Amino acid sequence: MSFKLLVSAVIAVVVGYYWLNYVKRGPIYESDKKLNGKTVLITGGNSGIGKATAMDLAKRGARVVIASRNLKKSNKVKDEIIKESGNHEVRAMQVDLEDFDSVRKFAKEFDESEKYLDYLINNAGILLEGMTKYGLNRIFVVNYFGPFLLTNLLLDKMKKQSAKRPVRIINLTSEGYKFVEFAESDISREPSGLVEASMVYLKTNLANIYFIYDLNNKLNDYDITTYSVNPGTVNTEGFDNLSFEWKLWIYPPVLLFGRNVHYGYQTTLYTLLDDSVAQHSGGFFNGCSHEELLPHATNESAILSLMRKSLEVTGLSP
Ligand SMILES: NC(=O)c1ccc[n+]([C@@H]2O[C@H](COP(=O)([O-])OP(=O)(O)OC[C@H]3O[C@@H](n4cnc5c(N)ncnc54)[C@H](OP(=O)(O)O)[C@@H]3O)[C@@H](O)[C@H]2O)c1
Repeated sequence: MSFKLLVSAVIAVVVGYYWLNYVKRGPIYESDKKLNGKTVLITGGNSGIGKATAMDLAKRGARVVIASRNLKKSNKVKDEIIKESGNHEVRAMQVDLEDFDSVRKFAKEFDESEKYLDYLINNAGILLEGMTKYGLNRIFVVNYFGPFLLTNLLLDKMKKQSAKRPVRIINLTSEGYKFVEFAESDISREPSGLVEASMVYLKTNLANIYFIYDLNNKLNDYDITTYSVNPGTVNTEGFDNLSFEWKLWIYPPVLLFGRNVHYGYQTTLYTLLDDSVAQHSGGFFNGCSHEELLPHATNESAILSLMRKSLEVTGLSP
């Protein structure tokens, strides 16, 4: 074997080893903690990362409520979770985060029919373009304003309960927040093309980080802690529903860097179960550990301005 060939083979083995072990796999959160008697509400629990999270939490004995638009699909997933986990405390509910009336109806029904809410996981999210009936950008409404409204509508329940049972609120986001600044005009502008839509998606990630950070500051008097979670790049079925154009844009990085869904929910699990995370409440978690936020993500005036706008858009009183 020539020297060049030998060097190439060694490089290929090293790169392959790195890719398989550090790119395609991520940290696993090991814990045998049980959640019997605890109630978890997870949006987007009928697919991808949300479904895998719901399955794990059901296996730990939690009462798990999965909430998405497609009730038929959610009921099928509910049956699957019950069968695999042996836990019958699984419920499917319908909510459309794009529709504030639906969010209000859902929050009322949840509040009236569920005794507790120990963990709220705002997991549902989309990449799809378009505008909503409110004249707002769809990605912004589903990924940020809908979860903002839902969380606020359930906050009284969580506050009352927190005197006796601690509560955790977890929002899925991404480390793509690092590359964007927030611009209010994005809320009501239809993105033209995939690059712009992808930037709007990243801005919804930043908006969720603002929200979780701000919420933590407002909840100092309660035993409620809040967390932003980056699941990493995860190959989920959500990508299968995208248009051909989107697939061309998104599949190369997903195939190259996307991890199995099992790795995708480990950081959510970490923030939900670990005792050490509370000291970083309001913060950002990546790869099963706390990561300091970049300065632009804790900019007080930007946060204040988005929170004001969010109250106005969702019709909540300040
Ligand atoms: N996968 C990744 O690489 C990645 C990376 C960074 C961050 N994330 C974030 O992680 C979260 C989960 O991602 P995923 O890939 O697992 O997603 P996914 O497989 O595409 O699932 C999305 C979920 O959201 C629900 N959903 C969509 N629109 C909704 C609406 N209007 N109202 C209520 N529910 C709605 C869907 O159910 P219905 O269709 O029944 O409504 C589905 O359960 C998202 O917030 C995503 O932004 C993912």
